[in-house]
Amino acid sequence: MSPNSNQTQTTIDKKSAPTNGQLKAFINQADQLKQQIRQETLSLAELKQKYLGKNGLFKKLSAQITTFDADQKRQAGQLLNHLKDNLTHYIDNLTKEPLNRQSKIDLTLPGLKSTQGHIHPISQAIEEISDIFEKIGFVRVRYPEVEWDWYAFEAVNMPKNHPSRDEWETFFVDAPSHHDKGKIVLTPHTSNGQVREMERVLKKYGKPPIRMVNIARTYRRQQDVTHTQMFHQFEGLVIDEDINIQHLKGTIDHFVREFYGPNTKSRIRPFHFKFTEPSFEVDFSCSLCDGTGQIEVTDEKGKHQEKCKFCKSGWHEVGGAGMVHPNVLKAGGIDPDKYTGFAFGWGVERTYTLREGLNLDDIRLLYSADLNFLQQF
Ligand code: DAH
Repeated sequence: MSPNSNQTQTTIDKKSAPTNGQLKAFINQADQLKQQIRQETLSLAELKQKYLGKNGLFKKLSAQITTFDADQKRQAGQLLNHLKDNLTHYIDNLTKEPLNRQSKIDLTLPGLKSTQGHIHPISQAIEEISDIFEKIGFVRVRYPEVEWDWYAFEAVNMPKNHPSRDEWETFFVDAPSHHDKGKIVLTPHTSNGQVREMERVLKKYGKPPIRMVNIARTYRRQQDVTHTQMFHQFEGLVIDEDINIQHLKGTIDHFVREFYGPNTKSRIRPFHFKFTEPSFEVDFSCSLCDGTGQIEVTDEKGKHQEKCKFCKSGWHEVGGAGMVHPNVLKAGGIDPDKYTGFAFGWGVERTYTLREGLNLDDIRLLYSADLNFLQQF
C-alpha cells in the first residue's frame, strides 16, 4: 500500500500541510487508546489482535506519522514508542494476573470448588473421646488451665516436696499467691478438675454421683519428639456409693474398644500415684499384632514370626488410673466412708497417635502448623 493511499481512515494526504492541531489530535487518540484498552472485556487473544495486531488500532494510529514534518515526527515517534510499551505492558500483566480484569465469563466451564478445611486432628480426637464418654453418662467439663497450686497439687494429695511441684517441671506464673490456694501454675495435668468437679456437684446437687470427663490443655517443661510443652489430657472421675475397680476396668475396656476397635483389650498394672490408692498404669492391646507382640513375616527366610515393631510387647501404655484417694475425697468435701470413686488421666496426643497406621515419630509435628502434614488427617 502506498503512503498516499487513502484506503485506511487514518491515512492523511501527504500534500496537505500538517498542523499542530493534527499533532494534538494524534496525542489525544494515543491517550484514548490507553484508556480504552482498560475498559475492554475481550479475551487476551482478541485484545492483542485489536490493539497490537497487524491491522490493529496501534498500527492505524502510527500510520498517521507519515503526514508529520520532521519535528512532529520525532515527537509523535516518541509518543508511539511510549504507547506501544504501555499497551504491551498492560496485556502482559493480564497474562500474568488473569483475574485482575473483568473477562468474558464462560458459563460452560465447571465451577471452582471452594476448598474446605477440617478441624485439627487433636480437636477431632477430643470430639471422639467426649462422644464415647458422654454416651455412657459422663459429663464433659473443662477447668482452668491457669490454676491455683491447691487444685493442681495440694488437694490431690501431692506433698510439697513432690518432684512435679518443682520449677523444672511446672510453669509457675509470676503473680501474687492466694492466701489459701497458694501459687498460680499452668496446670500440669487435668487432675486439677477432680476437686473442682466435686465442689461444683456438691454446690449444685448437694451430693454425688459424679461422672466427669475433663478435657483440657496441660503444660510441662519438656519438649522433644514425644513431648510438647503444651499438650492435652482427658481425666475421668466417677464417684458414688459402692464404686469399685470393676467399674474402672469396665469403663476403660469400653473406651479402648470404641476408640481403637472392637477386638482391643485393656490391661491394668499396679503403679503409684498420689491421688489414687490403689493406682494403676493402663495398657491396651496392640491392634497390629493383636496383643501377641509377634507378627508373621514372609521374606527370603520364608514365613516366620518377628517382634511387632509398633508395640514391641503386645501392649501400649497410655496413662494412669486408680481408686480416688480418701484424702482427695475429703479435700472435695466428700465423705470417704460413704463414697468411693475411680479416676483416670491420659494424654490425648499419645492416645491418638497410638492408633494403628498413624505411627508418628515426632509428636511436635501436630503443632507445627504445617498444612502438608495436617491435611493428611
Ligand atoms: N495426673 C496423672 C499424670 O498427669 C495421670 C493420672 C494418673 C490421672 C492416675 C488420674 C489417675 O486420675 O488416677 O500423670
